[in-house]
Parts: sequence; structure tokens; C-alpha cells
Amino acid sequence: MKISHFSPGLFVLLLTISTFAVSSRAETGYDAWLRYEKIDDASIQRDYDKSLPAVVVTLGRTEVAQSAQNELIRGVRGMLGRTLRIETALPDENAVLLGTFDEIKKAVPTFNAPADLKEDGFYLKTVSVAGHRVLIITAPNEHGVLYGTFTLLRKMSLQEPISMLDEMENPYAPVRIINQWDNPNGTIERGYAGRSIFWEDGHVVKDLKRARDYARLLASLGINGCSINNVNADPHAIDSEHVAELARVAEAFRPWGVKLFVCINFGSPKSIGGLDTFDPLDPRVIDFWNKKVDAIYAAIPDFGGFIMKADSEGELGPSAYGRTHADAANVVGRPLKAHSGIVFYRGFVYNHHADWRNLKLDRARAAYDNFHQLDGKFDDNVIIQIKNGPIDFQVREPASPLFGGLEKTAMAIELQITQEYLGQQRHLCFEVPMWKETLDFDLHARGANTPVKALVAGKVFGQPTGGIAGVANVGLDTNWLGHPLAMANLYGFGRLAWNPDLSSEQIAREWTKLTFGHDPQVVRTISDMQLDSWRTYENYTGPLGVGGLTDIIEVHYGPGIKSSEGNGWGQWHRGDTHGIGMDRTVATGTGYTAQYHPPVSDRYESLKTCPDELVLFFHHLPYDYVLHSGKTLIQHVYDSHYEGVEQVQKFVEQWESLKGKVDEQRYNETLALLEYQVGHAMEWRDAVCQWFFKMSGIPDQYHRVNNDPNRIEAESMKLDGYEIFDVKPWETASGGKAIRIVSADGHGSASFNYTGKPGWFDLAVQYYDQTNGVSQYKLFVAGQKVDQWLADDLLPSRNVPSLPNGHTSTRHTVHGIALRPNDEIRIDTIADGGEKAPIDYVEIEPASH
Ligand code: GCU
Repeated sequence: MKISHFSPGLFVLLLTISTFAVSSRAETGYDAWLRYEKIDDASIQRDYDKSLPAVVVTLGRTEVAQSAQNELIRGVRGMLGRTLRIETALPDENAVLLGTFDEIKKAVPTFNAPADLKEDGFYLKTVSVAGHRVLIITAPNEHGVLYGTFTLLRKMSLQEPISMLDEMENPYAPVRIINQWDNPNGTIERGYAGRSIFWEDGHVVKDLKRARDYARLLASLGINGCSINNVNADPHAIDSEHVAELARVAEAFRPWGVKLFVCINFGSPKSIGGLDTFDPLDPRVIDFWNKKVDAIYAAIPDFGGFIMKADSEGELGPSAYGRTHADAANVVGRPLKAHSGIVFYRGFVYNHHADWRNLKLDRARAAYDNFHQLDGKFDDNVIIQIKNGPIDFQVREPASPLFGGLEKTAMAIELQITQEYLGQQRHLCFEVPMWKETLDFDLHARGANTPVKALVAGKVFGQPTGGIAGVANVGLDTNWLGHPLAMANLYGFGRLAWNPDLSSEQIAREWTKLTFGHDPQVVRTISDMQLDSWRTYENYTGPLGVGGLTDIIEVHYGPGIKSSEGNGWGQWHRGDTHGIGMDRTVATGTGYTAQYHPPVSDRYESLKTCPDELVLFFHHLPYDYVLHSGKTLIQHVYDSHYEGVEQVQKFVEQWESLKGKVDEQRYNETLALLEYQVGHAMEWRDAVCQWFFKMSGIPDQYHRVNNDPNRIEAESMKLDGYEIFDVKPWETASGGKAIRIVSADGHGSASFNYTGKPGWFDLAVQYYDQTNGVSQYKLFVAGQKVDQWLADDLLPSRNVPSLPNGHTSTRHTVHGIALRPNDEIRIDTIADGGEKAPIDYVEIEPASH
């Protein structure tokens, strides 16, 4: 049939069919764990049809109450294809009833709320009213009703029974907050998923849909606060023009019970207040903060409060006037108190101009040294926000001793969801097991049984508030965090903030079911990958607590082993030809171990008891030191790096086993990232192993390090239009050298003849993909072009323009090539801009599949 005229009916039909077809196949990740996928198991459908009433009654009239009702309708429609009827009073049939205790009591006088429910907690209870089954979702406040509603929907998404509910949940701690490090210009400090959802061009964005949807995701986990600007705060974020803009964000958050927080710059009285001082004890400064806070509350009555980074990494602070952190925190905290607001004062304070030659200096000591002495001096609406470890979100750190060093001060633990030092959402790294280790760690702050989670929640020393803060840095990328598997970290953070007693396994499985469905193979495979991923990342980056061994100056991504040394930043590992590790003992080192209570201090002080996984954090050791595992330190470094790469290779195989079981879009995106991760893990492995070999002079027991029989170094190839150059730092190229185009026309060619046995092979080209050009690569075997590609990735880069180094090193693999002795293998390239088509080596491996 030829359709020559517009036919509305047909158009609608086609549209409907195509919408269905697309939505059932393509998954962008935007809905995260709130997909409310249609339940296709007939028996579960039937159960829910029976147990879920057709009517919803919402007793509250607030925006939050409406959100709860709308969410319930949305979720049930998605999962069961039924639209709940809205009634305003209990009908003469079964119903779901939403309301606070007081509201429910009026509607159902026989109902008794459990006595031990706390603020934000909730109760799900099936009762019988006039012969009808009524599923009550209730709480002391409307936030709890919202959280209870999300919990019911999560149960359904997890296909758990809901017919006779009698369940109560309380949050573990009152503070459950997200920090976003967004800049008013739209960039995000340590954000890896696009630009800001809040800011652009110095202003709050006009369309706040993403902000609203983000608040909904946060509320689904029980998160009740979110700050929206960088801790390195632009003072203008709170000037009068911006306060009006902030009010719009607060409005977008409000229906989801998420309070707005803002980071402030301590120099504001001077920079935006027209004063010649920001001395916290100066009456004019006190007046500035009083007026500023009042103005904010006039625009945003439910404003949450401030986050403050002071005297740290160049930010202004009280030391400019010889004042203390308590003076600084209290001057902004006092006016907030009148409005029930709080100030999070960051414990991340250290001197970044430390003299690295002084063996007694130690950045790890800084938080405790700065804050322990001020315990008791902070007002009760000041919360000291302390990073999980004493350095800075490294792949493995001990718990910060400051958690055990404040008895009269409220605290929050700061965790980093954005993977700054953990592969920046290009590498798979599920952080929940790492966070759990810290949260569960017993600091013996008052005898045994004082885990970090209890200390920060205020349970040990009776603080009225405290809890958990997470630096998320979602961006405009459709799937929020970039890597399709990275949202497990935001989900896991929220679940732990609500209940840190949940296990990593439970969180991984829940997230996978909610995000990818219930196929047992999918659930098992993805959960297993997630649960292995942090230790895998640790294995091929920085083992034994040595730190990340990454380039610590600015980009924090690829290897750059000496970058932590010889400067004032204090992330030293003190590696040289004799040994490696920071001596933090009392006996011979910086004395840091004494910041812990016994027996923790003793355990770390003594090599006999210090766990292997942290031994280089606490001790400086020779390379042939024998670990508890029985291996020498150096052999452990070699082995763990080779194991790490093998584990990533296994991730690729695991993922490939899910082809056809996961929607195509997320399947392909994830596969590409995992394949990239293999190449970058190899770069990490080789950089670290080469460096340790050179330093120690001790060869690998298994002869893998600096011995790659299948590798042909680019500098040994026949070159045309290319030159050999020294890559910096040297360990980020195989053998320290690579090649780059120097020809006038920008064309180059590198070739060699294959000398091995005939067979099927995979050819991998390790090259550098800089951001300042898109070079072209063509691979020829015996004169036949077998592949071509562009170096067009936007890999993180420290240098502007970016350079060939550990950040830009990447790998392109061509599978299934037949090679015969004497075949010429040639790479023809064209340089572009500042990127001179650099090549490190070619590796020829037996074909994998
Ligand atoms: C890290 C990070 C900075 C950030 C700082 C902080 O050092 O690299 O970008 O500002 O932490 O937490 O304040």
C-alpha cells in the first residue's frame, strides 16, 4: 500500500508501536533503579493483583505527600499495568492508606503506631478496617511516609511478598546528605559524567527537570539533603542575586523532602560583603553572617545549611586571623541554629606546602591534629565532616583516627561516590565493600564495639546528630554517572546511609535486579563483577596500602609513580632503591599510629600484627620483606598486578556471557568500557611493575616483568615519518620510549615482519589517545587492511594540551587475524593537531575467540 496522505490513526498506531519497541529495547540508564519494569512472571503478577488494593488514599496535603501518592501510582502502573484510583477518604473496599501517625489515627482510630519509630522512620502494616484489607504506610513525619512508599515499591520491584505487611524501619542516622561539587560555570570538580545539572554560565539553569529527577532518586534511598556547589566555593553562590536562584533549586527539591545546602567561602564577608575583614570574631563579620543567613531563610524557609572548607588547599580560613576552626564554624553556625540549620565543617584540613624531606611530617596526622584539641568547642549544630581515611579517597586507607578522637562533637563520614582516584567511571569499581570496611571498623574509642558507623551516628558518645555524606557529582550524561554500572555506587551509598548493616552482597544484588531485571544469570554475573571490582582495581593500581601510585598532581587517573614525591602535597610513599612505604610508627616514624586507641594503635605499630593490606601505609620496608602471606613485598606487587589484569579480562568474559540478556544499549556501552579497562589496567600493571623492578633490581619470580615475548616495541619497528621519543614519566611507556610522527605532511608508518608460527592471533596496538587531535590509524597485515580507527576518545589529561602518558595510554585490539611467517604488519597513521599518532607497542597474542 502506498501511503500518500497523512493518516492520523495510522500515525498514532505507528508511534505507539515504535515507542514500545524502542522502550523495551533501548535503556539509557536515566531511570536508574526506579525503572518499575513490568512484572512478567504470571504467578507474581497474580499475587500482587490479589494483595494490592485498587485504591490509594493520601491523607496529607503537602507536596511530599503528593509525591508519595504519585510515585505509588507510577510504580504500580509500570510494574502491574494498573492505575490506582485516588480517593480522599477510606472507601468501602480494600485500600492503600498513606499518612502520618496523626493523620492515620484520625482515619483509623484503632490503629496504634509503634512507639520506637524515629524521625524519618516508617511503618508498613496491613490491617483490617470494617472487613477490608488496608495497607497502611505511615510515619512520624511526611518524609517517612515517602520513604515507606519507596520501600513498598522496591519490595515489589524485587518481587518480594507484600500481602501481610508488618514492618518498621528507622534510619541509622539523621544526617544522610549528598554533596555535589558543581561550579557556577557549569563544570564539576572531579565530575566524570558531563556538565552540571544545576549551573551554567554563572547561574542556576532555567530548566530544573534534572534537579527534580535527581531529588526523586535521592529520596528513594532516604537521602534528605543535597549541596549543589563546589567545596572550593565561589563566594558569589550566596550573593543576593544567587540566593533568589538557589530558592528555585530548593523548590525543585522540596516535593522530595531533600533540603538544599550550599558550600560557602569563608572569605565572603570581604569578597561579597564589602568588609575589609573576615575575622570570625569581628562584630561586623558576625553581623554579615547573621544577615546573610536571615536573607537565605527569607527566600528558602526550609534551607538546610552550609558546608565549609577552610584553611585547606588554598581556601581562606580562620588561621588568617589566628582564630580556630571552632571560631569559624560557630560564627556561621549560630545564625543557622535559630532556623534549625546546620553547618558541616570539613575535617579535610592539611598543609599542602609541607617539607617532604622532613621524615617526621605526615599529612595523615593533619585532621586529628587540627580537630582533636578543639573537641567540645563546637556548637551543637556544627558537624565535623571527615573523609573515610586520613589522606584523600585512596584505594585503601585505614579509617580516619579522628572518628575516635571527638567525643563532644557531632560528626559525619564523607565518602566519595564519584571515582576520583578509582578510575573516574571509566573503570568498574564498586565502592560499597570498601566503605563497609571503614563503617564496620572498630576504633575502640570507648572499649570494644565502637565501629565508625556508630561513632558518626552519634550513638557512642550521645551526639544528637551526625551521619553520612557522599560526594556524588552526577552530571548531564543521560545515565547520571557515565559508566552504566557506576550508579551502583550512588545506590549503595544511599542504602548504607539508611542502614550501614546491610551487606555488600545484598546491595549489589538489589541494585542489579532493580537496574537489569531478575534473570538469575544476569543478577549473579553483575553482582559478582561488582563485588570483585574494588579489590581488582586495588590489585592493578596500588597494593598494600601504599596509595594509588597515580599521578597525584591534578588529574588523579593514570599511573605516575614519582608524582607524589618531592612536593608539598604529602601523599608521599617514599619509594627508592632501598624500599617503600611511610613509616608512621611511634617508634621510628611520624607517630601517627598513636592517634588510634589501643589495641588499634598497637596493631598498626607492630609489623607482627599490621595487616598486609595496609603495611606500606604504616611502615617503610625493604622490597624483600616477607609479608604475612609468605610472599616478599616485591613479589606481591608483581603478582597482584598480573592478577588484577586477569581479573579485568575475566570481567569482559563475564559481561559477554550476558549478550542478549541485557538490553543492547547498556550491553554495548559497558562492553566498550570494560575492553578499554583491560588496556588501561595493562598500562597500570606495566608502569608499576617496571618501576618497582627498576627500583628494587629484584626480578619477578615468574619472569613476566620486562619480559614480553609477544610484544614488539614501536621503537624497534621500521619507521617512516616517525621519531622515537622518551615518554614522561618513563614508566608509562613500555621500555620508556614510544614513537610519534615528525613528517611534514603528518603521515607516518611503522612496520615489522612477523617471525612466529602460523595461526590465528589477536593484534593489540597500545597507543596514546590525546585530547588535542584525532589521529587516524590503519592496520595492514601482508598488505591487506584489517582494521582502521580514530584516536578520538576524550581521556582525562593532566597536561593542557594533553600528552602521551599514563592517562592517555590506550589499546586497540583486532581479533582473529591469520598470521604467517614473514607477514608484514604495518600501521599507517595520520597525525592531527597536537596529537602525533603516538604508538607504544604491538602485542600479538593467540586468538581469544
Ligand atoms: C581532593 C580533590 C579536590 C577537592 C578536595 C576536597 O583533594 O582532589 O578536588 O577539592 O579533595 O575534598 O576538598
